[in-house]
Amino acid sequence: MNMSNLAKLLNEISLADSPRLEDLEQILNLNRQEELKELFSYADKIRQEFCGAGIFLRGIIEFSNYCCRECFYCGLNKNNHKLTRYRMSKEELLESVAYLAAGNIKTLVLQSGEDEGLDVLWLKEIILSIKSQYDIAITLSLGERDAGDYRLWKEAGADRYLLKIESADEGLYLKTHSGMSFTRRLNCLTNLRSLGYQVGSGCIIGLPGQTLKNIAQDILFFKQNDFDMVGIGPFIAHKETLFAQEQNGRLQLTLKALALTRIVTKNAFLPATTALGSLDKDYRLEGLKCGANVLMPNFTPQPFRKLYEIYPGKRCVDEPVGACNFCMDKMAKSLGRFIDYSRGDALKFKKAVLNV
Ligand code: SAM
Ligand code: FES
Repeated sequence: MNMSNLAKLLNEISLADSPRLEDLEQILNLNRQEELKELFSYADKIRQEFCGAGIFLRGIIEFSNYCCRECFYCGLNKNNHKLTRYRMSKEELLESVAYLAAGNIKTLVLQSGEDEGLDVLWLKEIILSIKSQYDIAITLSLGERDAGDYRLWKEAGADRYLLKIESADEGLYLKTHSGMSFTRRLNCLTNLRSLGYQVGSGCIIGLPGQTLKNIAQDILFFKQNDFDMVGIGPFIAHKETLFAQEQNGRLQLTLKALALTRIVTKNAFLPATTALGSLDKDYRLEGLKCGANVLMPNFTPQPFRKLYEIYPGKRCVDEPVGACNFCMDKMAKSLGRFIDYSRGDALKFKKAVLNV
């Protein structure tokens, strides 16, 4: 595409309340180096204008790898009988939270597989205990639950919830998630929003059978739902899944989707995902250059960290707890940016006028 036409198209997309699918698809189709450079630097400017230079940290603790689902791509799927399952005790979990808080991290992400054995009241007690000791925001990422569970945890003090749509195209969603309902997933997102959570979603790039149009649909979905956070990572094949033999998601396509998501959502928190750091090498820096403004250091202690194997080659599996702080600081400095140690609550209330 001619460079001035590209600049014009990016401008139109960024200003549109409802960008056209064909336009998003056209951008996802770009491949020439100079086109990609223009796209990424446009997204980077929007990030700077709407979110600033800070890189926010979300410390994650993966406290259970039990899962009742059969997502075709995920190593935690219930049919993976080779995986040793664990659920951390309250003491183990609180000890990890203490490390995280001592590292000056102000957002804790509590993540697990969709664990049917998770005691709703046990988690409520943990949330209450954390909130009484530390000034940190709590994000939950536990999959689909009844609205009553979401309410209980919100009332106990949980601030945010992350539930990726994975694919906003119902057909592709159903082809990659056996036994699940797309409508139920949407309802969960709606319930979370009405309960007052800051809500995050996201998708996987390179799912088998996915088209560029599907990715354009994902990006439109993020725009239409005005999510506070959006996680976009490449698919990475895991050998104990139905997608064992499939190709990994492509780096450039993931970066294009990330950049476009920044351009349409403006001030959503976008992580340079762990999956982006787990391809043939660590590409989180590239993510930070084209729209991302969040990193997610891992505070899951061993031996559990190794057992939370969503996909192979996951970053930071062997690093000692806390090693990530130093590494992330280095990454931020190399970009002339800084680690923002504040809680990083939703920026959605800040209405800025686009002027890039
Ligand atoms: N159970 C919760 C849920 O379903 O929302 C959270 C845990 S789930 C393991 C976290 C995320 O891992 C999913 O939302 C999915 O996007 C990602 N994931 C799982 N398997 C993956 C794979 N093979 N490649 C890339 N991302 C994957
Ligand atoms: Fe974990 Fe670099 S982010 S070691």
